[in-house]
Amino acid sequence: MCGIVGFVGHKLDAKDVVLSGLTKLEYRGYDSAGISLFNSKFRSFDIYKDFGRVQKLKDLTKDTLKSHIGIGHTRWATHGKVTKDNAHPHYSQSKRFIIVHNGVIENHDELKSQYLRDSLFYSETDTEVIAQLIESFSDTLSVENAILTTLKLLEGSYALLVIDTQMPDTIYAAKNKSPLVLGISDDGVTVASDLMALVGFSSKYVALADHTFIVCEADSVKLYNLNHEILPLNYSEIDLDESFSELGEYQHYMLKEIYEQPSVVSRIVQHYLVDENKMISDEILNDIKASDRIYVLAAGTSMHAGFVGKYILEELAGLPVEVHIASEFAYHTPLLTHKPFFIMISQSGETADLRACLMKTKKLKYKTLTITNVKTSTLARESNYYLELFAGPEIAVASTKAYVAQIGVLSILGYRLSNASFDLKEALTKVALSIEDFLEHQDVSSLVHKIITKRNCFYIGRTLDYYTSLEAALKLKEISYIQTEGFAAGELKHGTIALIEEGTPVIALISNPEISNNTRSNLNEVVARGATTIKISLSNTSHKDDDIILKDVHPLLTPMVMVVPTQLFAYYAALERGLDIDKPRNLAKSVTVE
Ligand code: M6R
Repeated sequence: MCGIVGFVGHKLDAKDVVLSGLTKLEYRGYDSAGISLFNSKFRSFDIYKDFGRVQKLKDLTKDTLKSHIGIGHTRWATHGKVTKDNAHPHYSQSKRFIIVHNGVIENHDELKSQYLRDSLFYSETDTEVIAQLIESFSDTLSVENAILTTLKLLEGSYALLVIDTQMPDTIYAAKNKSPLVLGISDDGVTVASDLMALVGFSSKYVALADHTFIVCEADSVKLYNLNHEILPLNYSEIDLDESFSELGEYQHYMLKEIYEQPSVVSRIVQHYLVDENKMISDEILNDIKASDRIYVLAAGTSMHAGFVGKYILEELAGLPVEVHIASEFAYHTPLLTHKPFFIMISQSGETADLRACLMKTKKLKYKTLTITNVKTSTLARESNYYLELFAGPEIAVASTKAYVAQIGVLSILGYRLSNASFDLKEALTKVALSIEDFLEHQDVSSLVHKIITKRNCFYIGRTLDYYTSLEAALKLKEISYIQTEGFAAGELKHGTIALIEEGTPVIALISNPEISNNTRSNLNEVVARGATTIKISLSNTSHKDDDIILKDVHPLLTPMVMVVPTQLFAYYAALERGLDIDKPRNLAKSVTVE
């Protein structure tokens, strides 16, 4: 979603730091980009912005003078269309203040009518209200107090950077609900919405807490609460490996990340099953065992991993599990049992819908474990416990390796909670080998022609394959824009089969030997109505004319391998259609608004 980067320092050109940071945040999804830089010739600030890519911003700023300070933004529209006027940075009315903002100010209409009836607005955004309020309070208050007074009026989420053009050596920043990190080095201070943007420019960082306010100059940073009381700055080392973010031999990050899956599974095995010091702690296991029900909360792909997790935890550990859509749970909480335990699953660890759930469960004083790929994320920090996915940064908007990692970690959790006697290490190693074997030896690109020219498509499967079909359908939709549904194979005949016509693609997932004949019967029903089919099976469920046959794995781990061909279908369908695979339209990698 939106990205923020600001820099103030001595030696470096702020333009380079900000544009480099915004480029690293491009994967999060955005539709416009902008930057404000100090112009040393006129001793004023210039703003460059437009809809479109960061590259456009690089072109617009190619001749600017070196600047010691700058703030930049990538916008994912929430209030107002995708236009140059709505792109950030925004000025206050007299142009004294310049601001970039991530998040949503929910009471912006009320604030406008209560405080800003005479102000002139240049955009349709909620953000401009913040700039105008700061300016109006600055008539009678110091800048810091004008900002603090404004912050106290805001309802909603914000990570924001403010420049007072009369104080051209200072960046003011504030945070509530939207992520914001502060990095320092000998070169200066960088503030950004994602740690990734600090890599290469900062050696140490602080992840800011909600309701905090910072004042940054090249050599000094002061952190305050909203009462203007100074707070300590507790820095941590940045240990992100930049090489993960390089494309290497691959044309797209999505393809690279699909191919990384065998090594991701091996890494999880190494971490949680081999290295004795790093296994899941007894504290987590005891808290779960003491509960009477697990509630899994997640969104999108992570929720699909949650469904698989439910199956595994119930089968292995005999614990009842409910899976809920985060955005629903937050505002319509079901009746809970006496001793619930919550598991949040989130690749990014920043999903706002989940954060809203966390706020709720914390208020109710329930224990929470977050399973995430980003150990520095808000959810990891704010939950009682977290387990890391070790998938390495996932750059493509469509989640692939994180999904497989989520199931891997959930299987280890289920195993540690159970008395199971099979060798999970060996079972997961077999998963890695089965994926590797498939990626090396089978080419799915030719099968994609059965899908790409079609209006709609179906994935069908039973039990675990049903959950995989949900994930497979989401992947095809988000990347290729083909209307796709994932369906429980036996349910199709209860209505949806009416949509099957000559040539409709139906892809069957057949990994469960006990019910593979039932799925094949359901497939025959759609063939009889003209469907074009693709069959994906495992060696022990295969028929010789199946299109893709994967090597067998443990029955509870089949989703980790069955999903891989479907990821490639989505990839090749989007490639054939000439689409922006890593940055599909309208989507963001990290959904930081509710
Ligand atoms: O970062 P999270 O796992 O919390 O994100 C949840 C969803 O937004 C995410 O899985 C989304 O569905 C992806 N685009 C799927 O590819």
